[in-house]
This record gives sequence, C-alpha cells and structure tokens, in this order.
Amino acid sequence: MSLSISLLQKLISTHTQTQTHPAMEKLHKEGKARAIGISHYCRRQLDDVLEIATVKPAVNQVEFHVGMGSAGVNATDDRAYLESKGVTFQSFSPLCGPCCMGDTTGKCTFNKDLITGDMVTSIGAKYNKTGAQVSLKWQVQQGIPVIPKTNNKQHLEQNIALFGWELSKEDMDTLTSATSPPVSGGGDGLTSGDCAMP
Ligand SMILES: NC(=O)c1ccc[n+]([C@@H]2O[C@H](COP(=O)([O-])OP(=O)(O)OC[C@H]3O[C@@H](n4cnc5c(N)ncnc54)[C@H](OP(=O)(O)O)[C@@H]3O)[C@@H](O)[C@H]2O)c1
Repeated sequence: MSLSISLLQKLISTHTQTQTHPAMEKLHKEGKARAIGISHYCRRQLDDVLEIATVKPAVNQVEFHVGMGSAGVNATDDRAYLESKGVTFQSFSPLCGPCCMGDTTGKCTFNKDLITGDMVTSIGAKYNKTGAQVSLKWQVQQGIPVIPKTNNKQHLEQNIALFGWELSKEDMDTLTSATSPPVSGGGDGLTSGDCAMP
C-alpha cells in the first residue's frame, strides 16, 4: 500500500494532536490548568482536535494586527470558522513585533508602522493616545484580546490603558481597511502559513 505525502503528513499531524490534546485534558481535569489554549490553528487542525475533545480549546493564538483587517481566510487562520466553534480568537504580535521576520534586504520598515506610523499616530492625536494604543484599541474594541510584549514600564502602562475611551466608527473603518503591514507568517504577505500545515 502506498500513501501520498499529504495523507501521510495529515496522519502524523492528527496523531500528534490526538496524543497532545488528551494530555492537556488530563491536566485540565486534574485542576492543573484552567483552560486549554491552541496556537497557529486553522480549520483543519481544529476539526482534528474537536473530533476527540471532551474539553474544547478556549483560545487560539494567531498573528493579527492592523493591516490584516481585510485579509483573507488563509491570513487570519479562518477566524470566523474558529469563532463559530466557540474558540476565542487572540492576537499575537498585535504591534507587528515580527513583521520584518525573514527580511533579507534590511530595508523592511513595517515593524514600526503600528507604533510610529502616520496612520496610527494621526488617529491617536485626536484622542491624545499613542500610535501603539490605537493599534491595540482597534483590536480590543472588536472584542479581540491582545498580548503586546514590552520591556518598558511606560509602554506597559499605555498598553493597559485601553479602556474608557472609544475609536470612532470612521477611525475603526480606516484601520480595518488598511492592508499594510500584511501578515508575516507565510512569508508571502498573504498567508499565515498555518492553513497549509497538515
Ligand atoms: N503563539 C505564537 O506563535 C507567538 C508568536 C509570536 C509572538 N507571540 C507572543 O505574542 C506576544 C507579543 O508579540 P511580539 O513580541 O511578537 O510583538 P508585539 O507585542 O507586537 O511587539 C513588541 C514590540 O513592540 C514594542 N512595544 C510594545 N508596546 C509598546 C508601546 N506602548 N509603545 C511603543 N512600543 C511598544 C516593544 O518594544 P519595547 O519593549 O521597547 O516596549 C517590542 O519591540 C509575546 O508575548 C509573544 O510571546 C506568540
């Protein structure tokens, strides 16, 4: 009997998930973990887990930031599908931390666009907020939990101060329609690379 590479990859991946998820459920049932999280999951990986899960993953952590608001399913790891299954969509790299990942030209400037870029700083000036706060607020206002990373106390305070003020619909729409910086994961600016994984 011969197996195609893709079927073989699928079997290996499913095997890994069917081993890992029950181990996570054991920790959950023992009270050692309050919830089970997943990361980089797209539709097919979630479906594999849901087939065997007795405890559903609570959250899926994927790359998402301003610039991806109008991006396709393969960029956002099929956000709507995962949410329809009750899994919270959580954004990593909300300030585009790794947006120059893989750049070999040394000319990539995306990594500061969501902090000091014209769009976010000009919107922020209307609310007396920083560009980084605008980028984070765009997500929080949509109900998306964000996990910005900082080593700077002042930045940490700014990143927490996202409540008690609202971006206007017009500003939300401007941020949603931005197409830059694009998703970085897949390296082609269109895909996260996750949905193609077996
Ligand atoms: N699940 C996964 O595969 C995955 C992948 C990537 C990342 N993550 C997680 O996601 C979290 C954040 O992602 P990330 O580190 O890639 O990128 P990020 O949070 O989007 O960006 C981090 C960068 O933003 C700067 N920054 C943060 N707050 C700022 C502010 N208020 N003003 C100005 N600059 C600010 C930081 O510099 P300063 O230190 O100078 O503030 C740092 O250079 C981390 O906890 C990481 O572990 C998960």
